[in-house]
Amino acid sequence: MTTLASTISEGFRARRSIRALTNETKISDARIEELVSDVTLHTPSPFNVQSGRLVVLLKEEHQRLWDIAYEAASASVPQGVFEKMYKPRIAAFRAGYGTVLFYEDPVPFKALEEKWPMLTQKFPEWSQHSSGMHQFALWTLLEAEGLGCSLQHYNPLIDSPVSEQWGIPQEWRLQAQLVFGKPAGPPMEKTFEPLEQRVFIHGK
Ligand SMILES: Cc1cc2nc3c(=O)[nH]c(=O)nc-3n(C[C@H](O)[C@H](O)[C@H](O)COP(=O)(O)O)c2cc1C
Repeated sequence: MTTLASTISEGFRARRSIRALTNETKISDARIEELVSDVTLHTPSPFNVQSGRLVVLLKEEHQRLWDIAYEAASASVPQGVFEKMYKPRIAAFRAGYGTVLFYEDPVPFKALEEKWPMLTQKFPEWSQHSSGMHQFALWTLLEAEGLGCSLQHYNPLIDSPVSEQWGIPQEWRLQAQLVFGKPAGPPMEKTFEPLEQRVFIHGK
């Protein structure tokens, strides 16, 4: 019997890292915006602080992002490493259709820190947890729509030029970049560590 849980679980199983992409999309920009909005509204955050900020870059804007990453990496990474690793990877991401930038805004946490001073040390960590939930949810949904995605971390290398290019508030913290497009190749082979070493159920 197909239940909502089994359908969601199927989405989890189907989500993979697809790094070879083309600049086509099987879904409209409006549908992409709808999924991003759903994830933003319905992903949990500590005390419902809603600190996630998602910036979606499509087509030429997406290409501009990866041109910025190219410029930043070529200026700061050793030449040999840049040529061998960064250059081909950045070219592969640039060949995609779009990128979602996941930010966390620390400002809404200020009120929480006043109300819950004993939790002040925990909030940065929880902010990152919430961002990871946004990332996983959107990754799963975009791939369920037939797109390929991979999660990248060119922050903090690209933080300043990206903030400048798209008018992003300086205080927002860039967490990750989700690159997407039409899959141009399969995901890498994946192995699984034994569940007996990872899941422990008591009392069944
Ligand atoms: C927190 C986190 C950080 C990751 N960072 C990167 C990254 O910077 N670049 C990349 O290509 N993949 C990155 N990945 C993807 C993992 O390598 C990938 O999810 C893992 O190998 C399992 O493969 P799958 O995504 O195909 O299931 C990251 C994944 C997570 C959860």
